Amino acid sequence: MRVLVVGSGAREHALALACARSAEVTVAPGNPGIAGVSPEGHRIDVCDAPAESIPADLVVIGPEAPLVDGLADRLRTGGVPVLGPGADGARLEGSKAFMKEVAAAAGVPTARHRSVERVEDAAHFFAEMGRGPYVVKTDGLAAGKGVLVTPDLGEALADVEAKLSGSTFGGAGRTVVLEEALSGPELSLLVLCDGEVAVPLPAAQDYKRLATGDLGPNTGGMGAYSPVPLADSDLVETVMERIVGPTLAELSSRGIEYRGVLYAGLMCERSGPKLVEYNVRFGDPEAQVVLPCLEGDVTALLLAAATGELAGAAPLTPKGAAVCVVLAAQGYPGPVRSGDRIKGLEQASTVAGVTVLHAATIQDGEGSIVTHGGRVLTVVGTAPDLAEARRRAYVAADCISFPGMQRREDIAAIPARSLGSSRP
Ligand code: AMP
Ligand code: GLY
Repeated sequence: MRVLVVGSGAREHALALACARSAEVTVAPGNPGIAGVSPEGHRIDVCDAPAESIPADLVVIGPEAPLVDGLADRLRTGGVPVLGPGADGARLEGSKAFMKEVAAAAGVPTARHRSVERVEDAAHFFAEMGRGPYVVKTDGLAAGKGVLVTPDLGEALADVEAKLSGSTFGGAGRTVVLEEALSGPELSLLVLCDGEVAVPLPAAQDYKRLATGDLGPNTGGMGAYSPVPLADSDLVETVMERIVGPTLAELSSRGIEYRGVLYAGLMCERSGPKLVEYNVRFGDPEAQVVLPCLEGDVTALLLAAATGELAGAAPLTPKGAAVCVVLAAQGYPGPVRSGDRIKGLEQASTVAGVTVLHAATIQDGEGSIVTHGGRVLTVVGTAPDLAEARRRAYVAADCISFPGMQRREDIAAIPARSLGSSRP
C-alpha cells in the first residue's frame, strides 16, 4: 500500500507518521523534518503531474488551496483514490458566503450573518445587531488569519474597508461576511466522509489567538489538545445529528458527493453547539493531536473513506491523550522573518512521548535547520492523560529556541468541561 500525502506542514508530517504504521508513505513536497519518512517527496509535483504517473494507491490532500483548485477531481478522474472533496465540496471552505448559504438551507444552527460588498451595508448590519463584539471575515481563503472579532465598532468598520479594498487580503476580501458573535468553548470535530457514511474522529480543541490568555490576533492555530473532556458522546451525537448530517444531505441534494474530512469548527453555547466554520481537510494543528490518539489502521480507514467503503471498515480505537504547542516565527501571523537558526531539536526529540513535527523549516547551505515561514514547528506530547501529555509537550518545547520565537503558555491548561463555560 503506497500513500501520497500532499503538503509541507506539521499536519502532513503527522499524517505521514500515522499512515507509515501500515503503508509506504511519500509526502510531496514535504520538508526537512519529514525527509526521514519520505526522502524523495520533494521531487514529485503533484499539481502538474498526470494522474497516471502518481506513485500511490491513495492520495491524501492536506491543505485547502489545492482542494479548492480541483486537485481531487483531477486525480479521481485519472483513477486515483483520493481523500479530499472535489472543488464543488471544497467551496464550503473556499467561500464563507457559500458555507453560510448551505448551512441555512440545511437548517444548521450557526451565527446570523450577512455578506456585503459595501462599507455602508456593513454599518447597517452592525446597527441591526445592536452591540458587539463584531465579527468580520474574508469570504475567501486567508489561512485562518482573515477573521477579526472586536468590541470596537470603529475597528470593525475599518477592517471591512481594508478587506473590501483588497489591501489586506487581495481578492479573498472583495466580499466580506459579517456575523453575530457567538461565545463559549470552541471545539473542532473532524469527520471522515465517504459520500454517504460519516464517522467522527475524537474531538480536539484549537487555540486560535496568538498569545497566552486568548489575546492577540487570530492565527491558523497555536496549539491544540485531544480528547476534549467537554466533547462526550452526547455532544458528538448532537453535532452529527444537527450539523454534520444535515449539511451532507444538503450537499448530496445538490449533487455534491463529499469524500474527505469535513472539519466542523463549533462554538458550544449554553443552548447547544453552533457551527462557526467548515474546513474541508484535517485541521492544523488538530491533526497533530487527533492522529496519535488513534489505535488501529489509519491508512485503511482513510482509503475506505476515499473509496466509499466506510460502512464496512474497521473502526479506530481512541487511546490516550495528546497536547501540541506551535512554535511560530517572529512577526507571525503578519509578515515573518525567515532564516533564523533553530536550536535544541535533537534534545527535544529525546523527551519520552514527544514528537517534534516540522512545518516551516528548511536546511541552509551549512546543513542547519532554519525557519522558513510562520508556524515553524509543532511539538506534540502524548501520554495516557492530558496533564502528562501537556507536561511532556512543554518540557520538549523548552528545549527549542530561535530568535523571535513565539508560543502560547496555556495550551490545555484548563480544558473546558461544560457547555457555555469560558476557556482559560
Ligand atoms: P473561522 O476562520 O471562521 O473559524 O474563524 C476563526 C476564529 O474566529 C474562530 O475559531 C473563532 O475563535 C473566531 N470566530 C469566528 N466566528 C465567530 C463568531 N461568529 N463569534 C465569535 N467568534 C468567532
Ligand atoms: N486549526 C484551524 C485550521 O486548521 O483551519
